Amino acid sequence: MKSGVKRLLGRAGFDIVRSTNHLGGVDDFIPFEATVRAARAAGLSVGDYIDEVMNGTPGATQSTIDELSALGVFAANPNTVLEIGPGSGRYLEKTLKECAPDRYEIYETAEPWANYLTDTFGVVAQPTAGSSLAPTPDGSIDLVQAHKVFNTVTFLCASRYFFEMARVTRPGGRIVFDVMTETCLEPAAVGAWATQGGAGHDSYPAAMPRRTCVDLFAALGCSLEASFLAPMGVASTEVLVFRKGT
Ligand SMILES: C[S@@+](CC[C@H](N)C(=O)[O-])C[C@H]1O[C@@H](n2cnc3c(N)ncnc32)[C@H](O)[C@@H]1O
Repeated sequence: MKSGVKRLLGRAGFDIVRSTNHLGGVDDFIPFEATVRAARAAGLSVGDYIDEVMNGTPGATQSTIDELSALGVFAANPNTVLEIGPGSGRYLEKTLKECAPDRYEIYETAEPWANYLTDTFGVVAQPTAGSSLAPTPDGSIDLVQAHKVFNTVTFLCASRYFFEMARVTRPGGRIVFDVMTETCLEPAAVGAWATQGGAGHDSYPAAMPRRTCVDLFAALGCSLEASFLAPMGVASTEVLVFRKGT
């Protein structure tokens, strides 16, 4: 990979293709064929290729999964899992090593990646539009997750998904996602973003106040169980783990 491109990947975390909606978003995600080809040539799974080569953070996805495992998120062997924005499936692949759900639904706007995930992992791709999980019934999912999604979309897109996530989770189920909260935004981190991160991508990185998330999910009957930091781009996001009340 030539240095200019690599520098961009390092800064943004992904080779982000400009959105066609002219809003400067990152909803097109990384190119499907080139990424799969490059991962194959490197002898790595697509997820490990993204961690190691594209992002320069080997083991980052596994370390989040390990934290979630230590918190007992997979201990109850969730039978239904729903993931928003799985992209290449790097978290999906590792989640399926931790548990064996009968049904794994995905909501993914990048069609080539959604097709790849259904073919490779037998997951169910649901029609994806805006921030709706309408095809999924209330209280039907044991584990709802999204990784590195809510720092790339607008406040309203993320907030609307939050209501939906609380709706589809069954009582006692878990909701896991990461957001770039104030915990991740100490002055040095803001400086790093301002000078090295996210150039040219208007909606990335998007911040989300931690208290907004905690208070909103509390109002929706879900309490914060745990949180931890995970690397993202030049700084980090905060992973929040909620449990819906029974
Ligand atoms: C930065 S990528 C993260 C992908 C993956 N979770 C990972 O960590 O490698 C954001 C993902 O969200 C998807 N996405 C963007 N807007 C979305 C929306 N409104 N609903 C569902 N997925 C969306 C993108 O296509 C992309 O796959």
